[in-house]
Amino acid sequence: MALLYAQQVEEMDVEEMQETHEAEIEILNEIDKLATYYGMDKTDEKLKALEEKIEEYLVHVKTHFANEERLMRKYDFPKYDMHKMAHDMFLMDLSITIKQWRKFGDIEKVTNFIRKSPEWIVLHINTVDAPTSAYIAHMMALEKEKK
Ligand SMILES: [Fe+2]
Ligand SMILES: [Fe+2]
Repeated sequence: MALLYAQQVEEMDVEEMQETHEAEIEILNEIDKLATYYGMDKTDEKLKALEEKIEEYLVHVKTHFANEERLMRKYDFPKYDMHKMAHDMFLMDLSITIKQWRKFGDIEKVTNFIRKSPEWIVLHINTVDAPTSAYIAHMMALEKEKK
């Protein structure tokens, strides 16, 4: 069983947003799997694989949020501040958890955080990203018409 399925989140009207969400879900599922493997066999090799995936996830989340924020600014999305704040709060929680892991080496803190995050992710995508992407897709279509 996967941690999260792409079908659980609403399909975005903006293709690049959809692709980012699918890629991120894949990374989350890989972390879940690697954490299970490490739990069964605590070798350095398994730990390294898990750590690398977590680093990849952090970069992916940052790029994901920054790209949505760029699109929102480009098309003057009216609820930009609210959406940006939701990103900032999630990123702050994630960064604190990762910092603690780097300082104290407790990888379980990070994997626990990640395993609990699908709830936030599904809610954010379905209630915040979905209306944002509908607006952006509409603005993109208008822009095309003008050309
Ligand atoms: Fe998103
Ligand atoms: Fe978002």
